[in-house]
Amino acid sequence: MSRKIYVFDTTLRDGEQVPGAKLNLAEKLEVAEQIAKMKVDMMEVGFPSSSQGDFEAVRAISRKIGKDVWIAALGRAVQADIDCIYESIRAAENPLIHIVLGSSDVHVAKKFRKTPEQVIQMGVGAVKYASSLLPQVQYSLEDASRSEFEYLWQTIEAVVKAGATIINVPDTVGFAIPEQFGKLIYRINDRLKNLDPKVMLSVHCHNDTGLATANTLAAVKNGADKVECTINGIGERAGNTALEEVVMGIQLHEAYYSGHTTVDTRKIYETSRMVSATMGLDLQVNKAITGENAFAHSSGIHQDGLLKSKDVYEIMDPETIGAPAMEIVLTARSGRHAFIHVTQRLGFDIPAESVAEIYQQFLTMADDNKEIYDNDVLTLLKNSGVPSCGDSPELWQLLDYELNVTSGLPAATVKLARGEQVVVISHSGSGVIDALYGAIMEAVGAPIELIDYRINSLSRGKGSLGKVTAQIRCDGQLFAGKAIEQDVMRASALALINAVNKILLK
Ligand code: KIV
Ligand code: ZN
Repeated sequence: MSRKIYVFDTTLRDGEQVPGAKLNLAEKLEVAEQIAKMKVDMMEVGFPSSSQGDFEAVRAISRKIGKDVWIAALGRAVQADIDCIYESIRAAENPLIHIVLGSSDVHVAKKFRKTPEQVIQMGVGAVKYASSLLPQVQYSLEDASRSEFEYLWQTIEAVVKAGATIINVPDTVGFAIPEQFGKLIYRINDRLKNLDPKVMLSVHCHNDTGLATANTLAAVKNGADKVECTINGIGERAGNTALEEVVMGIQLHEAYYSGHTTVDTRKIYETSRMVSATMGLDLQVNKAITGENAFAHSSGIHQDGLLKSKDVYEIMDPETIGAPAMEIVLTARSGRHAFIHVTQRLGFDIPAESVAEIYQQFLTMADDNKEIYDNDVLTLLKNSGVPSCGDSPELWQLLDYELNVTSGLPAATVKLARGEQVVVISHSGSGVIDALYGAIMEAVGAPIELIDYRINSLSRGKGSLGKVTAQIRCDGQLFAGKAIEQDVMRASALALINAVNKILLK
């Protein structure tokens, strides 16, 4: 039978420990609300004794979203920290005190300079005190994966008897190996369920050797009831277990893990983008599940296979995580099949006798530009005199643009065409992109909201190509447009227009 695996998000505690990712109160609230929309079960939102700012943020989140999700906050095994946690989370409907204390020899001997028994007594005292304040207390055995098993168990037994309701087994330094970690969880679970079957067994893994997701899933397979993770895997050093990877891993293999989560996976993509933008932490393009290329296919063989049947190379539908539809990225490696597919999607039917020649022109263009996007294909087809089929919508094209950048308000004027219709709009904005995008959005007149804007350099030096990605939301759906140009302002305009055209084509 499939059991529920509880998802504990620690983006706003372990994730926020990333250098430079610190958020102010308003930002923390915004991120917490977005994560709550994803319907995680529990959310750890800070270390309230670390600063007044953290205390206030935890308290504000507890008050604002404490009805929808369990709210946890972390502290050391000392009364002052526990008091601080209690004050900051007590407004939540399901508050959870999280206490951390080391259990490995290095922590006991070198960090605390205490005997193992003294450390257990510290933990027991802290748990007793915490459970006199609130019913739910989580105890984390820091560095558990490098701890001696019998000492680990002795500690667990003592803190459970003292009132701990959740036992968390962290691989604090990312040292664990999936097979061994799975066995460790199996042994603990076996004894724990005999001791008190109501106590939840949790894991918290770090990604120092890239094994956080594998270790977490091995733990689920071996009995863990709860997983701790962060959006995009952000966290100390190489990060934590990525929530999106574990949740989708369990969903794809529910029978294997005999488990499921109740996370609303359709909110994953948007949450990932929002966390990345708010914390200023870029995602690697090939990041599993949420990276820019996670659903992009560029090899000719793959594109051909996908066009025959998506499941040839796609193990999940991008819609399950709320991502824009799968993308065929045209490059010099794309075959004729993929090129023709894109031209047809854009509403063009190349006469059979011209296909070879136009495909050759496309390859020459792709050699110069690395990647070819919709605006490039439209230009190529128009220049070659290929008429549109007539039964698909006319698309927007950029005819011209002008920027006026002074120390005052920047302004932009755009000239766009859609079939016979030509629109010229000027707009000012707080920055050049704000002005340019304001003008384009007014010109196309669609109810769109800009979700994400990114710019990357594709090579080095002054003459390098700039790749821009613009993501917009329209009627609750996300659309992404990309463009590559040497002139990054032109690329910015084209990326947005490509995204708008995707709405028309839908
Ligand atoms: O990595 C760790 O051990 C932690 C604990 C507080 C769970 O973050
Ligand atoms: Zn951690």
